[in-house]
Amino acid sequence: MRIETFEMERMQSTWENIVDYDMSESGVRPLTLGELTAMGFDLAAFLDEPLGYSQSNGTIELRERIAAIYPGAGVDGIEVTNGTSEANYLIALSQIQAGDAVAMQVPNYMQMRGVARSLGAEVRTFRLRTEAGWEPDWDEFERAVTAGTRLLYLSNPNNPTGSVLSDDAMRRIASRCERTGTWLLSDEVYLGAEISAPRTRSFWGLSDRVIVTSGLSKAYGIPGVRIGWIAGPGTLVGDCWAQHDYLTIGPNKLSDRVAQVAVEQQNRERCYTRTGEILRHNLPIAREWASGFGGRLRWTEPAAGAIGLMKYDADVPSLTIAERVRVNQSTLIVPGSHVGIEGHLRIWLGGKEPFLREGLRRIGEELKALFD
Ligand SMILES: Cc1ncc(COP(=O)(O)O)c(C=O)c1O
Repeated sequence: MRIETFEMERMQSTWENIVDYDMSESGVRPLTLGELTAMGFDLAAFLDEPLGYSQSNGTIELRERIAAIYPGAGVDGIEVTNGTSEANYLIALSQIQAGDAVAMQVPNYMQMRGVARSLGAEVRTFRLRTEAGWEPDWDEFERAVTAGTRLLYLSNPNNPTGSVLSDDAMRRIASRCERTGTWLLSDEVYLGAEISAPRTRSFWGLSDRVIVTSGLSKAYGIPGVRIGWIAGPGTLVGDCWAQHDYLTIGPNKLSDRVAQVAVEQQNRERCYTRTGEILRHNLPIAREWASGFGGRLRWTEPAAGAIGLMKYDADVPSLTIAERVRVNQSTLIVPGSHVGIEGHLRIWLGGKEPFLREGLRRIGEELKALFD
């Protein structure tokens, strides 16, 4: 199977451990095993645990706890995966065939575009409109989701805009997917990372066409254990499990055990609270920094998530700017072109204050040179 380069992930995996300041991240600074131990993870007991295979679709204990997040879901409707990215991938592998149409909101995390195209699908995009507070362009949406559109992929809260769909928009999207017989795949890995907005409402329960993916990487702040999941109708989840058997078999035992602690309700809320506090602390710093360019750097502040999407006023490709920032300042940022929105830069807001300030200062050096 041939697949196009996933530009953003490739750029990150090439440079993120080489540059001095990785400002291309998208979660908050991660938790440690020590912090998880304080939440109830029994590290000492795990030391004597034989490192065998774990239950390939997730232990019953973990799936029960995840199912409790989604009212009405049972353990057979949950598949535990290696990250949210594997969850999305399994859905694509099991549901998309050559010739299918797949709809996708842009800007976005562009995984589904590459995967769906590699499976021979046509990908139709609809925009979140900058000029309308990131409201979907409904004309484009209706052209993208038509009878026979196999799957719609969206992220809510959205990467990279940090916007959250209104209840009306969610209902409109869900009811159209019901009418067209389209799977509505809602990637909710940023749910819980709200900054000012109330807790994001899940698509779960809005329609029997809804599939939710999520994981520990963003709102929970635990990307390193690589745990994600699918919540969906039992038959679809079964199809995903069948793909999982071929791909990675399943997640590892230590990660499953850590995840059991993290998703437990009280700990989940603790993780979300920590994330919100980090972001509320950092947002004013980014706001002040962005205001220092005489109006040539503009943004709609994120309602949720650890990234700022900034529109710059210069006729230069975003990749060129990102490359200058990397080469001249040893700092990595994501060019808008890698998330489906040229003319913008995606900047991480989830680090410690000194790191954030120095990362922004370095990016600022290049922007000043650009605007002069
Ligand atoms: C919307 C979205 N989904 C999935 C992922 C990948 O998540 P994971 O690390 O859980 O595989 C990302 C990573 O940036 C993302 O932004």
